[in-house]
Amino acid sequence: DTTICIAHVYRGSFVHSTRSAAVEILQDTVLGVDRAGKIAFIGDGSDLDRLSQKWGFKPSDVKQLGQCEFFMPGMVDTHIHASQYSYSGTALDLPLLQWLNTYTFPVEARFKDLSFAMDVYTRVVKRTLKNGTTTACYFATIHTDASLLLGQIADKFGQRALVGKVCMDHNNYNYKETQMESVEETKRFIQELLKKEYPHVRPVVTPRFAVSCSSDLLSALGEIARNNDLHIQSHISETKEEVEVVKELFPDHKSYTDVYKKHHLLTNKTVMAHGCYLTDEELKVFRETGAAISHCPNSNTSLCSGILNTRKVLQNEVKLGLGTDVAGGYSPSMLDAIRRALDSSKVLTIQDPNFQTLTFQEAFRLATLGGSEALGLDEQIGNFEVGKDFDALRVNLCVPDGPVDVFPGDFYLSLCVLHRGIPTGDDRNIVEVYVAGRRVVPLPEK
Ligand code: GUN
Ligand code: ZN
Repeated sequence: DTTICIAHVYRGSFVHSTRSAAVEILQDTVLGVDRAGKIAFIGDGSDLDRLSQKWGFKPSDVKQLGQCEFFMPGMVDTHIHASQYSYSGTALDLPLLQWLNTYTFPVEARFKDLSFAMDVYTRVVKRTLKNGTTTACYFATIHTDASLLLGQIADKFGQRALVGKVCMDHNNYNYKETQMESVEETKRFIQELLKKEYPHVRPVVTPRFAVSCSSDLLSALGEIARNNDLHIQSHISETKEEVEVVKELFPDHKSYTDVYKKHHLLTNKTVMAHGCYLTDEELKVFRETGAAISHCPNSNTSLCSGILNTRKVLQNEVKLGLGTDVAGGYSPSMLDAIRRALDSSKVLTIQDPNFQTLTFQEAFRLATLGGSEALGLDEQIGNFEVGKDFDALRVNLCVPDGPVDVFPGDFYLSLCVLHRGIPTGDDRNIVEVYVAGRRVVPLPEK
């Protein structure tokens, strides 16, 4: 369709995942982005003249990537607590349930104060964008107005985001709501956020987890999600102790998974964090309902919660993405989540040599296309396909200390890009970030 107006054309290497390949490298490729930020065409560099005539752009307007550079899809953080960013890495000495009561709830309670919320939420959005998170699935706090502020900040800096006002009516600490408040405020949150018409920010229904929600609250939230066709996020089977508590709280349910299923919280727009202790039977329920798992390896080891068997999840054909789980995880970087996913799968191989370790290529896929599938956004983002939004990172492997040796051939290029980029890369290598065609990194000056 040549009536489409091309806004930008890039030429160079593109690295991404496809349905059939964990990693595909497109060398000397030309990619055009239209005014709406969607990928209009992808072609061969040698075909530039024909493409420029067909799409009506000047070859001199093409932006050429450098030798050390490539584009990869923006990364998808499928689980991050924006409200826990301010104490990342400071308090990881207690198991989950004590950690929540001792550190997390008191900090989250402070988000009643909108200026505190403004400061922390601005910092977390900027930091994750710089680290290549083009899409984030956020937990905020129980406070509706502060949660709306998070949506406003993500929109302002151009990050794609699912934002959840946290719901909880049951715990031993006074940071909680009544069931009625939780339901009414969730409705208000959804209504107000949708009214803003931010193009890339959506609400997500967010029961904190079965430990801190009554059965009535879980049911009401399931119904709100269904009536409004919304995403749902929560936590499941992160630690053994938590699994035991849920058994006590919901004695007439078959399993932790069954609790969410019975409350209509497992849909093909659900993402559940952790899942370390899910049984095969429970994973089958995930597959049948289309619900996804967010693997948060930094958090799982930092809080000594458990190790997710990623191979078992993939073999059960359950949708899987990666999450930083700030601040159970101490790093806001998805590159860190990739490395931790690789390491934790290596630990399983050390314990059992028959365990098939996650490959670099698979981990790269989980951080990009896998994450988009987990959030049900794979029609729109996740890789470079015509019609999808251009969410991309311009990566420069020669930053900060000079060129990399690449052995000739595709195989080595792939290893170099991934091995060099993944083990030793950081935000300095991410020189530009695009969301829906708009350049959002470098960040605006002030
Ligand atoms: N389970 C319920 N709430 C939380 C949280 O804030 N962090 C983690 N890691 N697990 C949870
Ligand atoms: Zn979490």
